Amino acid sequence: MSASDFYETERALSEYLLFHYGLPGQILSWPFGPASALHYPVRCVCECLDLARLRPASRALDIGCAVGGSTFELARHCSEVIGIDHSHRFIEVARHLQQHGSFAYAYLEEGILTSPATAVVPAEIDRRRVGFETGDAQALRAGLGEFEVVLLANLVDRLRDPRQCLSTLPALVRSGGQAILTTPCTWLEDYTARPQWLGGIEQNGRPVRTLETLHAMLDPHFTLARTVDLPFLIREHARKFQWSVALATVWVRRSASHVSG
Ligand SMILES: C[S@@+](CC[C@H](N)C(=O)[O-])C[C@H]1O[C@@H](n2cnc3c(N)ncnc32)[C@H](O)[C@@H]1O
Repeated sequence: MSASDFYETERALSEYLLFHYGLPGQILSWPFGPASALHYPVRCVCECLDLARLRPASRALDIGCAVGGSTFELARHCSEVIGIDHSHRFIEVARHLQQHGSFAYAYLEEGILTSPATAVVPAEIDRRRVGFETGDAQALRAGLGEFEVVLLANLVDRLRDPRQCLSTLPALVRSGGQAILTTPCTWLEDYTARPQWLGGIEQNGRPVRTLETLHAMLDPHFTLARTVDLPFLIREHARKFQWSVALATVWVRRSASHVSG
């Protein structure tokens, strides 16, 4: 199984349903755990999106949406939201959530022991605003149009060619719109050959970090509005977690007449 096939597995589905829709007590039963890292898909939107910049009837795009937690959250603020992911299984379940509002699954406790759970889209979110499709972030279909918000949450360090994906942002984000990128900068050769890493490498004997490369790629078209350190917690089983801190950057698209370089 290649690393990217992981996102087609039932284990990944269960982990991401819990990550996106789990109740705090289901994810973290320890009072001493990092509770501030819960609700990451919601916080990618509510801690990063500048609502004052949104226009009426805004469109949003969530690339690498997984099972759709952030996609639904964007629908609180935008009248049309498209979620795209490479995983057919994730999109199948995201579509079920869009159509029915809930999805029953089981999450791992220990060994082969599981607990039943139901992922539920908050009732106040208008699910009719949301659509999901399979697609490749490095070869998005034509005709998507322009968006006021494009979210790439924890995506770029899972791509074979992150630069190709980033190069499409100027055409996807309309003038004054926002591109929200979050990444824990977990560069791994299982997903991305080292020459394609955006950071965590040395060039000419000098360390290069992901933020520096993001600036180099996006500065000609975008202004970096803010950076946020966003902790998140993925539960593998009752006693094993991945606690990470994503670098979130919010980029505002300049008008074409102000594009530099
Ligand atoms: C680390 S997960 C992040 C998911 C979600 N955005 C979040 O923050 O929870 C990476 C996601 O990117 C998706 N993905 C990987 N390669 C992709 C590609 N080439 N095009 C679109 N999605 C991709 C995976 O299927 C997975 O859902």
